[in-house]
Amino acid sequence: MMSKHKIMSVFGTRPEAIKMAPLVQALKRLAHVESLVCVTGQHRDMLDQVLNIFSIRPDVDLNIMRFDQDLTSITTRTLEGLAPVLSEYKPELVLVHGDTTTSVSAALAAFYQKIPVAHVEAGLRSMDPYSPYPEEMNRCLISRLAQLHFAPTAANADNLRRENVLGLISVTGNTVIDALMTTVYDTYEFQHEFLRSFDFDSGPTILLTAHRRENFGQPIVSICRAVRRLVEDHPGLRVIYPVHPNPQIQQPVRQELADIEHLYLIEPLDVQEMHNLMDRCSFVMTDSGGLQEEAPALGKPVLVLRTETERPEAVVAGTVEIAGVEEEGIYQAAHALLTDRDKFRRMATAVNPYGDGRACERILGCIETWLGS
Ligand code: UD1
Ligand code: UDP
Repeated sequence: MMSKHKIMSVFGTRPEAIKMAPLVQALKRLAHVESLVCVTGQHRDMLDQVLNIFSIRPDVDLNIMRFDQDLTSITTRTLEGLAPVLSEYKPELVLVHGDTTTSVSAALAAFYQKIPVAHVEAGLRSMDPYSPYPEEMNRCLISRLAQLHFAPTAANADNLRRENVLGLISVTGNTVIDALMTTVYDTYEFQHEFLRSFDFDSGPTILLTAHRRENFGQPIVSICRAVRRLVEDHPGLRVIYPVHPNPQIQQPVRQELADIEHLYLIEPLDVQEMHNLMDRCSFVMTDSGGLQEEAPALGKPVLVLRTETERPEAVVAGTVEIAGVEEEGIYQAAHALLTDRDKFRRMATAVNPYGDGRACERILGCIETWLGS
């Protein structure tokens, strides 16, 4: 009997897990592949939420998360944890995703054992090494380490070609659209009690998220103050904010936004709840990467709480606007969306530059060709 090709997917945070889940499920269906999953556990609770929803049982769990962890400890724990795992399982290919510290450390760990790396969601660039920090440098480094590069868009592939990266570059679409197609539907009923009883028809609702390292300190305070002014000045407006568990976010958010009428701080939602909440809100304010891809596909305007984006496609299409991290700029951008119907209508056109829901199929095709060669 022919032995199976061993492929190991390594991920550790919520967004990686959401975007790798459909690929892990697709790999499992290939008869000639043994699909292994190693999670670092860079996120604990938020990772487990995703694993549960997509029924993924990891073969290995490094369980590295610590309270208020720093980048060095994520890196060293991942490198030290993965070395014996890769020696034992000896995969032919390691799949990593995006730009987290789990991903760059896993790619380096594989490189140290001369195991080829495939990079899912390759080629996104802001061109500023400190923004997003450390993600921009993480993904640049992964591009040097990887041999297969799965770029969501043609522009992402062009970035990689300009950098003369080694290996094969393929435009596949983003696997997040594959995931989104399975989670959102009109008759969805929320599990979360607050959301189940929430009347989305009785006024505008903003979905807010913010967690990025470069927004720690003054920017997160300014974001909170802008949002607070918005609910105070716009009767009927509600804001729902699932707050990231990072203490660097929890602390200022609780300090600035506790007990404000119509401003609801809730715990992180599982991905299906989140996607359906996004589908029912009026618009999104966020510094998240993933939300910038999902919301446009659902026809929801997005105000980006950052000074740049590595996802310019939806900005060009007109559904995403960079609002910055200053209180006044954020307030004015949201105020305009709440009061200018034409602007809202222009931004609420559903566009989906990130794929047709068949990214996994294309990625599998590339992997099969590579295995065959
Ligand atoms: C990480 C990624 C970031 C990604 C984000 C998605 C890096 C450097 N950063 O940032 O690119 O956008 O995930 O959310 O890889 N925590 C918990 N429970 C959890 C998860 C986190 O309590 O399930 C707390 C812990 O105290 C942890 C802290 O949050 O130490 C920070 O987690 P960390 O992964 O270091 O940073 P994120 O901001 O989540
Ligand atoms: N998300 C979620 N629950 C939440 C907040 C976000 O499931 O409470 C999902 C979101 O829909 C998207 C992903 O998490 O798929 C984005 O993750 P995050 O914003 O943490 O990271 P980023 O994309 O910025 O790296």
